Amino acid sequence: MGHLERVREEFTRQADTFTVHAVKADKKMEVRFQGAIGAAGDGNILDVACGPGVVTAALAQRAASITAFDATPAMLEKARAHCEEAGLENIIFREGNAQAMPFDDASFDGVVTRLAVHHFTKPQDVMNEVFRVLKPGGRAIIVDVIVSESTEEAALQNAIEIIRDPSHIRMLPEAELIGSIDGSGLEIVEIAGWDANREFEEWTGIANDPQRIGPLRTICRTLAKDGRHAGFGLSINEADELVFFHRWRMIVANKPAG
Ligand SMILES: C[S@@+](CC[C@H](N)C(=O)[O-])C[C@H]1O[C@@H](n2cnc3c(N)ncnc32)[C@H](O)[C@@H]1O
Repeated sequence: MGHLERVREEFTRQADTFTVHAVKADKKMEVRFQGAIGAAGDGNILDVACGPGVVTAALAQRAASITAFDATPAMLEKARAHCEEAGLENIIFREGNAQAMPFDDASFDGVVTRLAVHHFTKPQDVMNEVFRVLKPGGRAIIVDVIVSESTEEAALQNAIEIIRDPSHIRMLPEAELIGSIDGSGLEIVEIAGWDANREFEEWTGIANDPQRIGPLRTICRTLAKDGRHAGFGLSINEADELVFFHRWRMIVANKPAG
């Protein structure tokens, strides 16, 4: 099975559960994105790997138009329903691969992507595509969860994430994420970060596949009991729940005006 097929299979099964999570994932999402998008927020925007369209809808309030772009038809259907429910009519829905986008050079004032870099086999290709489709002077907002700069901890966290969701390729350490954005030619203007506390049962419930979660629970509990936090705070709390944190980064960058 090719990776994009795996993404489609995974996010078709997760369409309902992830949609619920996407709304709750970051309570400050709208404020963060509206604050970071600047003047580009009034123009034409692209939401890469839009999933159920939660970020799309938040930015559509102000944008002239927004293109919701994703590889998974079931997710685009969720995005369409979410935006229709919000009464938004300035949205174009497009299916495709973020690593080779079907858009002309310099098409958008703003490009955003949330919680998707870790699903890309070639994140640098996506950053290069973000640079290509942005107009000179346009703005990009890249949001994802990062892993520890320790190679061993990062490998362990990514292995756990892959067992939970095989369409996960690799969360990047911050330095590598920044390097891929720099490498595209975008100029970083702001980096913000926050930790989100997570609970194992809630997090694995989103994956919607109980068969793979049982063994993962055993592995994670054993690691936590042995004090192996894997760089993401894996531990057992006083209520005997398996808990951890996801470390988010929001990177705001501009395409040079030329
Ligand atoms: C974890 S969801 C994030 C959705 C949304 N951005 C959000 O924050 O709520 C990841 C999304 O990335 C999409 N995706 C993964 N790889 C992709 C690719 N190469 N091209 C386009 N979409 C992709 C999946 O279909 C899924 O909808």
